Amino acid sequence: MQTLYVELGARRYPIFIGNQLASHELLADYIISDQVMIVTNDTIAPIYLQQYQQQLQTLGKTVASCILPDGEKFKDLNHLNMIFDALLTHRFNRDCTIIALGGGVIGDMSGFAAAAFQRGVAFIQIPTTLLSQVDSSVGGKTAVNHPLGKNMIGAFKQPEAVIADMAVLATLPDREFSAGMAEVIKYALLGDADFLVWLEQNMDAIMQRDAELIAQLVLRCCAHKAAIVARDETEQGDRALLNLGHTFGHAIEAHMGYGEWLHGEAIAVGMVMAAHLSQLNGWISTADIDRVRHILKRAHLPVLSAAIPVDEFLAHMAHDKKVLQGQLRLILLEKLGKAIVTKQFNPSDLETVISENQAVAII
Ligand code: NAD
Ligand code: GLY
Repeated sequence: MQTLYVELGARRYPIFIGNQLASHELLADYIISDQVMIVTNDTIAPIYLQQYQQQLQTLGKTVASCILPDGEKFKDLNHLNMIFDALLTHRFNRDCTIIALGGGVIGDMSGFAAAAFQRGVAFIQIPTTLLSQVDSSVGGKTAVNHPLGKNMIGAFKQPEAVIADMAVLATLPDREFSAGMAEVIKYALLGDADFLVWLEQNMDAIMQRDAELIAQLVLRCCAHKAAIVARDETEQGDRALLNLGHTFGHAIEAHMGYGEWLHGEAIAVGMVMAAHLSQLNGWISTADIDRVRHILKRAHLPVLSAAIPVDEFLAHMAHDKKVLQGQLRLILLEKLGKAIVTKQFNPSDLETVISENQAVAII
């Protein structure tokens, strides 16, 4: 098992990366409360809930669970309330612990519940998708969606620990694995050109689920995320770089209806659009854009958006949290392996990028 730390002073916490961690006694060290609520969904519960419940009961904990319906379309305030209902029905108090057992949807919802329940209770992330292991379980962003915007209602809430068990990826569907690879490729493009080369060299084996390579890439991505979060926890600066491709991607997700396109699929196309706009700024070459497209395709990810009218696409982008004083800021690439946050782009280039990276509408 490998251990990394997110260095946040008194709130410093570990990320454990290893195999078969459910049988490990990690939870004993990080749950001091007697009451534990495991939040999961109806896909994950039949596979993984029982083993964690049993382990916690063996530790003498009072364990309850809250099983949410599976899907991004349920990541909303109504379904968040199911967690509060479960906590109150079981008379959980302020020193309880909430465990998120699931992917990014469960992690974001459980974390938000942990931030709000009785003004804040302890929280542990057990991420079960590649995307949540390399990104969403680390760094304390929590949220639910609103019909007018993704992740618009939320809080920063750091966990006590993150337990990333490679063994759970065995049951993860291929499409979800690919979606996680979009976030992996994101780290390479935004800040690690050597990692991009490593991914190019190893992509075939990774897509065949080589366990050793996957553990290495989870470690590398978590190290990047931990470093960025340690220097900019609440996204006043550098942390925005982690949103490479996201402003475009969120527009696709919002337009298509949450859950139609997976988050990772949408940001894959978003990263192509960001690369294209960077090229129109004169920062990278067309060969660089091809390299971005190629690595995404090798991870079985889309590189073209669904057909969305440009004005509607732009309207969705205008809801982005990076809009400051009415001005859209985007994450663009100065070169492959170095992203920046910038307002510097030509609005007509942005329209070109949106229209030229869409599949042709079938009428
Ligand atoms: P997800 O949570 O919807 O999980 C994907 C699917 O895989 C679901 O159907 C889930 O039930 C299933 N699943 C999960 N683990 C499984 C396993 N081990 N075996 C079998 N099936 C399994 O999606 P995701 O890609 O993990 O997360 C996407 C969400 O994360 C989005 O809502 C996005 O906004 C959010 N996100 C948050 C952050 C952050 O910093 N907080 C960062 C990136 C993404
Ligand atoms: N996934 C973006 C962030 O954590 O900031």
